[in-house]
Amino acid sequence: MGKNTISTLNRMKANGEKIAVITSYDASFTQQVEAAGVDAILVGDSLGMVVQGHESTLPVTVSDMVYHTANVVRVSRQAMVIADMPFMSHGSAEQALDTAGRLMKEGGAHMVKIEGGAPQLETVHHLTARAVPVCGHLGLMPQSIHQLGAYRVQGRGEHAGERILKDAVGLQDAGAQMLVLECVPALLAAEITRALDIPVIGIGAGVDVDGQVLVLYDMLGITMNGTPSFVRDFLAEEHSVQGALAAYVRAVKDKQFPAEEHTFK
Ligand code: KIV
Repeated sequence: MGKNTISTLNRMKANGEKIAVITSYDASFTQQVEAAGVDAILVGDSLGMVVQGHESTLPVTVSDMVYHTANVVRVSRQAMVIADMPFMSHGSAEQALDTAGRLMKEGGAHMVKIEGGAPQLETVHHLTARAVPVCGHLGLMPQSIHQLGAYRVQGRGEHAGERILKDAVGLQDAGAQMLVLECVPALLAAEITRALDIPVIGIGAGVDVDGQVLVLYDMLGITMNGTPSFVRDFLAEEHSVQGALAAYVRAVKDKQFPAEEHTFK
């Protein structure tokens, strides 16, 4: 079987087959994740918290992202690899192009992920018009933590929900080929997923999206600051990393994860 591409993920959305995504940051975990059969790997800037021990994702540099992306890509065989554009690496369209160029040329990423809605549309268009595949990220955007004040559910209430839906459509129109929706009410996530042609990957966004992503260390229950409410600790149930990863992929495909208790109303 060839490597997964955006066409693979589009086909899965069209066929109603759930897409299993997980974060990874190094070679050894990537081998485990690949063996479990995930469809895509996100080299998330969450590495700033779970690998580097920072309080937020803000200190992560482009060089950090290139380094970790290269470690993942070196051993990945089947999964498509998406790399995060870290904080302050996409302040202008030109800066974003430089960052994406490094992540793809030096890191080997197949797609880059960028947080933000309306203010990012010009940048997303600039990238996608130059052959850079882009994944958007809406809802809870961890790079905005100091504006938000806390990591909490976004898009509650008619106006807030409408704004996220509008941003999602705007990102797709600007050329984004995938969207991550983080910590939004399940009904809103379902509405956005129906409205978009591109795959929508949820984290804390309920089961009615095209796929799920979790931070690897969260689903293994080894995160330093406790496990968020939308996460299931698969290692506690399975007693081995390989078993936990396989159970995660199975649960996503069978729509057993996320369950009600991992979902925001
Ligand atoms: O950085 C990351 O790991 C992410 C996921 C939480 C979606 O953006």
